[in-house]
Amino acid sequence: MSSIIVALDGYSSCGKSTTAKLVAKQLHYAYIDTGAMYRAVTLYFLQHHISLTNPREVRKALDDIQITFRRHPVTKSNDTFLNGLNVESEIRKMFISEQVSEVSAVVEVRHAMVAQQQKMGKNKGIVMDGRDIGTVVFPNAELKIFMTADPLMRAQRRQDELLAKGELVGLPEIIANLEKRDYIDTHRAESPLRQAQDAILVDNTFMTIDEQVEMVVRLADEKIGQAVRRDRNSSTYE
Ligand code: DC
Repeated sequence: MSSIIVALDGYSSCGKSTTAKLVAKQLHYAYIDTGAMYRAVTLYFLQHHISLTNPREVRKALDDIQITFRRHPVTKSNDTFLNGLNVESEIRKMFISEQVSEVSAVVEVRHAMVAQQQKMGKNKGIVMDGRDIGTVVFPNAELKIFMTADPLMRAQRRQDELLAKGELVGLPEIIANLEKRDYIDTHRAESPLRQAQDAILVDNTFMTIDEQVEMVVRLADEKIGQAVRRDRNSSTYE
């Protein structure tokens, strides 16, 4: 079957993961949350007091890190495992959000994660969300979406998400964290967050999740149709 890669990039708390997860489900594709990978690395670095300015220490730590995703048998969620341990709820906490942009700006960290992500998507049939998927990880992805939303709306969504997990955080703290992460993510030297030239901009401030999912699935279906026709034509001429 002619599968494609759907790359979903954008700012923090824009609803990328929620959309990507549901799109993957409808397309029967795999879903990879690359932010979870950077969060898992951050957790490991904090637990092991890794110095971000010591490349040798960072490389050694990265060699010792194994990140996998497994479907939870009860909640059916795609949980993140760090060296065999389920860290899904830990990596979503505020103390990780406060450090993750610094950790993900480290060159060695980016190279290691990008290599893993490219391996995960080599057979296509994948929806991947993050900051550099359409620009660095899969610059040839068939469908690229760049998501954005009003900052206050993003902060409110993030607050609801944390509350649902039992963490009550004030809006000013969340807004400060989002602004800081946006700044670091867009200004870092290595693969900064930016919209790929061929990405479709989606501002979802006034869109429901269902509307976003429907839109991305429709765009993906068009691209899948093109891939089918392309593969059919190339096999005719072989
Ligand atoms: O999507 P998220 O908020 O869970 O991502 C957490 C952090 O990881 C985000 O602040 C930037 C970083 N990140 C990145 O640099 N590159 C990616 N592809 C995904 C996330």
